[in-house]
Amino acid sequence: MKVLVVGKGGREHALVWKLAQSPRAEQVYCAPGNAGTAEDGVNVPIDPLDFDRLVSFVRKEKIDLTVVGPEEPLARGIVDHFQKANLRIFGPTREAARLESSKVFAKELMRHADVPTAEFRIFDHPEFARRFIETRDYPLVVKADGLAAGKGVIVCSTNEEALTAIERIMVREEFGRAAGRQVVVEKRLEGEELSLLALVSGRTIVPLQPTQDHKAAFDEDKGPNTGGMGAYCPAPVGTPELLDTIDREVLVPIVHAMKRRRQPFRGVLYAGIMATNQGPRVLEFNCRFGDPEIQPLLMRLRTDLLDLIEAVVDERLEAFEGKLEWDPRPAVCVVMASSGYPGPYKKGFPIRGLTEAAKWPDVKVFHAGTRRDGDRILTDGGRVLGVTALGDTLADAKRRAYEAVACIQFPGAFYRRDIADKALRSLPDPAAKFTPSAATESLPENT
Ligand code: AMP
Ligand code: GLY
Repeated sequence: MKVLVVGKGGREHALVWKLAQSPRAEQVYCAPGNAGTAEDGVNVPIDPLDFDRLVSFVRKEKIDLTVVGPEEPLARGIVDHFQKANLRIFGPTREAARLESSKVFAKELMRHADVPTAEFRIFDHPEFARRFIETRDYPLVVKADGLAAGKGVIVCSTNEEALTAIERIMVREEFGRAAGRQVVVEKRLEGEELSLLALVSGRTIVPLQPTQDHKAAFDEDKGPNTGGMGAYCPAPVGTPELLDTIDREVLVPIVHAMKRRRQPFRGVLYAGIMATNQGPRVLEFNCRFGDPEIQPLLMRLRTDLLDLIEAVVDERLEAFEGKLEWDPRPAVCVVMASSGYPGPYKKGFPIRGLTEAAKWPDVKVFHAGTRRDGDRILTDGGRVLGVTALGDTLADAKRRAYEAVACIQFPGAFYRRDIADKALRSLPDPAAKFTPSAATESLPENT
């Protein structure tokens, strides 16, 4: 089979790397890809939003399956475009992708389907939003309705901050005119976060193992929100009881509600959850694999990803219910970013030490913002690399990931030093062998 992955970040490198391991994958292309996808697959210089050129390429090369990485092409209807051309593609339609592309839509659907989420109000005029905020005596979160590369959510501690957020989103239109036409103002929740990604096709829901992202730019969750500075899998906050509740109270009602609206969801449904004292609450839905979450997830997945993705596309996913195989060892991913990210940053700096880092067994350096220039690999984005390691324990996986990070240098590189620490603090003995609860499905190493 020939497969095309659409996108150019760490998520797409992880997808190319894993899909290429399938014995059935003859060739894996990536459009447009980065220096890492060019090593594990073949890059094609086509923009992910240029649907016509993508369709022509797929026809010409006789590609059997296209897998979409990022949200933007999904929100703009790449799946509808391919389906009209009778081509097989993995991901939700434009309407179904509204679960991510419109926070107002997602909130209203949650209210309608009785899915637990933070109390909220929707505003389409800044004056009404301001009046509401001024009468609140608890911390708020202000969210632009539309896509804003993960930056349109402003978590506030005071009402003044919330008023400034309204100004930035609705008046200054910092996240674009369309994205800021409406805002969601919601109660700020306390608790530990968890990303639960599930493959969905028809009525079938196959959850992947729980992961935890690190959204803030700096250690101890300080600084602005980013696309994600590191992740680990499995996340012990996702106890079997909590995962059960999320399945019953979140995934099932949303998938059914979408079906009833005649907008069935097919692809990856990503539930961003806050585990509060009162139980799980949905922070957001995404309609694609999380990045960096997919990096530790795919390090651990033993099931053939191509088989799995095809089963979603062909609506045969039931065959995989309760049958996913996982490496029992935890994985930790540390993102190395460009100085200044998530704000403005410089690019084009040479990256050194990739060969040394690649020598570590059970370590994979996924590329995000990189490009090749002759013999050199240069930085080419905010998030540059996702250094991902397996270990016998979570502590061991963390140590090994940071050992590989220490091999790599580029000017202005920065990364968090506390990835996985929340879980390590919560484990009774961090050095003890950590056997994830949901790993009951996993098989020993060489079966
Ligand atoms: P979202 O894109 O909606 O997930 O928001 C991005 C990040 O903002 C989340 O991962 C949380 O860290 C934070 N966040 C969003 N909504 C809330 C909330 N209601 N309470 C606390 N933090 C939130
Ligand atoms: N890491 C968060 C996301 O992919 O949206």
